[in-house]
Amino acid sequence: MPLSRPLDPDELPSNLSANEQFQRVVVRAVSRRGFLKSGLGLSAALFLAGPLHAAGKGGAAAQATATTASLLGFTPLPMSTADTVTVAAGYTATVFAPWGTPLFSTGAGAHWAGDGSEAAAAQARQVGDNHDGLHYFPLAGSEEGLLVMNHEYVTTSGEGRYAWLFGAYDHALERREHADKAIHAHGVSIIHVRRVDGRWQIVLDSRYNRRLTAATPMLLSGPAAGDALLRTRADASGTRVLGTLNNCGNGWTPWNTYLSCEENFNLYFGTAAADDARSAAQKRYGLRPGASVFGWERHHERFDHQREPNESNRFGWIVEIDPFDPESTPKKRTALGRFKHENAAFALAADQRVVIYMGDDQADDYLYKFVSEDAYVDGAGRANADLLDRGRLYVARFSDGGAAGSFMGTGDWLLLDKTANPTLAADTRFATQAEVLIHARLAADAVGATKMDRPEWVAVHPASGEVYATLTNNTARQATDAANPRAHNIYGQILRWREAGGDAAATRFEWDLFVLAGNPAVHTDRADPRAGSANVTAANTFNSPDGLAFDAAGRLWIQTDGKYSNSGDYAHQGNNQMLCADPATGEIRRFLVGPRECEVTGISFTPDQRTLFVNIQHPGEDGDSHWPAGGDALPRSATVIITKDDGGVIGS
Ligand code: FEO
Ligand code: CA
Ligand code: CA
Ligand code: CA
Repeated sequence: MPLSRPLDPDELPSNLSANEQFQRVVVRAVSRRGFLKSGLGLSAALFLAGPLHAAGKGGAAAQATATTASLLGFTPLPMSTADTVTVAAGYTATVFAPWGTPLFSTGAGAHWAGDGSEAAAAQARQVGDNHDGLHYFPLAGSEEGLLVMNHEYVTTSGEGRYAWLFGAYDHALERREHADKAIHAHGVSIIHVRRVDGRWQIVLDSRYNRRLTAATPMLLSGPAAGDALLRTRADASGTRVLGTLNNCGNGWTPWNTYLSCEENFNLYFGTAAADDARSAAQKRYGLRPGASVFGWERHHERFDHQREPNESNRFGWIVEIDPFDPESTPKKRTALGRFKHENAAFALAADQRVVIYMGDDQADDYLYKFVSEDAYVDGAGRANADLLDRGRLYVARFSDGGAAGSFMGTGDWLLLDKTANPTLAADTRFATQAEVLIHARLAADAVGATKMDRPEWVAVHPASGEVYATLTNNTARQATDAANPRAHNIYGQILRWREAGGDAAATRFEWDLFVLAGNPAVHTDRADPRAGSANVTAANTFNSPDGLAFDAAGRLWIQTDGKYSNSGDYAHQGNNQMLCADPATGEIRRFLVGPRECEVTGISFTPDQRTLFVNIQHPGEDGDSHWPAGGDALPRSATVIITKDDGGVIGS
């Protein structure tokens, strides 16, 4: 009996419980490491003949010998609830560039007082708060480079949270000085780093050192630039914006630019107006009536969404930054669409056009991809600089494979184009393609994209081009589908797909689930959907996968931003953590555990794969951490540098 929704008890055959049915299909979907045989013309041999990591270099012989060896060379780490970073045996974690770290030896911000008492002008020249996505750009191989990182938000007050931004200050945002400090703690840091005697150091006063904040001048470029919806009283051109907001995950391009992704920009817009006059689009993007979370609208009118209704349209984009040119102006690339961007994963199509995969992190929102109009030219450097200004934007629809309750299937990329998509051509809410891009969520709603369990990071396998995406959780989900198979999904899952013909620009794909996170230490019946898929064990249990990246050898690194109560459904999971998976076998091992009440996010390696940079965000967000300094010190978000004690490749 074909079942499209195996977890819906109403649709189950009477002789199988929901749990038995779940177990049957999950184990098959996740353990066979295969995809549906859909007749899409994909090369099954490419994906099924052996471990994916062997497909890149070394040829058939290497592949043959690699088929039995695990990619994971370290001993799994137990869970931890300690207020420290723990890492697998044989590795060392070193704290680097915490919030407030000076980038210059003189002038404002040259010293960190230790109590958060720095003024706004000092914060504008120091490392920002709540570190998130990051990337290492080499200047001299694996010894010297530019470490570029996002600062997603600030924790200032309210709802039982520890207000560390102002240290000993009055915590209220009633003073403009406080709002301005918060504004400058946002954005991006570009940090010149160098290894001296084996230790990474900041090159103080380097010409590359730079802070971009929520007040730094930036440009809007691409098809929506200059559109009436992007014009404000301060900018009649609709092309010049002050700042970037809620910079979450990231991406990078082979022409050496950094992509910073604006996520929950809605939190920064509020209004002093008493009545609720929000437009449908403002509601769809989560702008709220009354005061904003951060209260900046009290000091800067542009953040009042009724006084300056178009200002919020100038956020929610992907910002391209050239870290090697300190004079360059960051560009918000409107061709990639406006939504709550998580990260930006780069791939090349068969014809060398640029593909960027992107998630919109909201319950029941979507996965997108951009395909450039023009091809990337290897070695041409800045000649590629504006490739992200012209192209096509697609949103994903995941279909069930049709087999009995399978968690695998096919999918389509639906084109979000005012002219070429008849649905959008007929939709009078969008007058132009610019409006489709500015209101990409509404356009995706209209074309029937699949509502996902909060898309977070996307990562592309370096050899196979297979694409993996974290769906972090969706506690409100009621109606399930094959790709989002659990109602009240508290643990999350990782989905993967391969494009038709192995071409990143294809418009059809096959997908399956790589892992359904769960907790078999609590939900001990393996047939219970909450136990997770077969590659989740009591030893590696985790919830809420978020950050995601491959290393050069094809190890899949998974970072979590979930519940850290270590009780109830989350017992035995401890603090948020980073795990590593072998995509070929599905095996997952815990590698690192963060301090209390943090999230682990952001990941980049040096080219030699022997230094790993990750970020620890918001330790002590509920008041129970003094990491990294300990004692009574303020908790501080920071980068952690991981090295192997024998100098070897991380994870090997
Ligand atoms: Fe900023 Fe969806 O995490
Ligand atoms: Ca995230
Ligand atoms: Ca998250
Ligand atoms: Ca977080």
